[in-house]
Amino acid sequence: MSTLFAFLHHLCAFTLVATVAIEFTLIRQELTVASARRLQVTDLGLGIVAGLLLVIGVLRVFFFEKGPDYYWHSHAFLAKFALFIIVGGLSVVPTMEFLSWRGAITAGQVPVMAAGKRRLVTVIIHAELAAIAVILLCAAIMARGGWV
Ligand code: HEM
Repeated sequence: MSTLFAFLHHLCAFTLVATVAIEFTLIRQELTVASARRLQVTDLGLGIVAGLLLVIGVLRVFFFEKGPDYYWHSHAFLAKFALFIIVGGLSVVPTMEFLSWRGAITAGQVPVMAAGKRRLVTVIIHAELAAIAVILLCAAIMARGGWV
């Protein structure tokens, strides 16, 4: 069971990176109806996989690895978990923006995005990628009993 959940955890983590990278590439290009739709679909995938990652991660903490006591006393785990939650909260901004495009996309029109909003969404997606790198570092440290 522990191996299965470790596999699922890695699968979700890699898929998450792929979805964020796709969003990062698309948001930097000129928006079209097709790319706007792709952003919406990718963002839905991102949300699902982030949710799965959280559920699988919590199950690993409580049932399949070193036990909750170990992780709640690990600064590396707490940093990883906090970063995940903070970035998850920030990701609501791009999600709300992509969802607001529904009308335009259905009408076959390119969604209009204010320059400031576009910058903000790009910065947040960039921050998501950077946070994943830090989360990976924290994961490696916590798994080896470091930074307690
Ligand atoms: C972007 C999100 C995440 C990424 C990229 C990620 C990545 C990883 C990686 C690469 C490992 C393997 C570390 C190693 O063995 O060297 C790992 C282990 C683990 N992760 Fe995550 N993780 C994420 C989110 C979470 C969350 C939200 C939780 C819990 C709520 C969690 C709990 C765990 C646990 C319990 C382990 C096992 C550590 C051990 O072997 O003692 N992860 N994670």
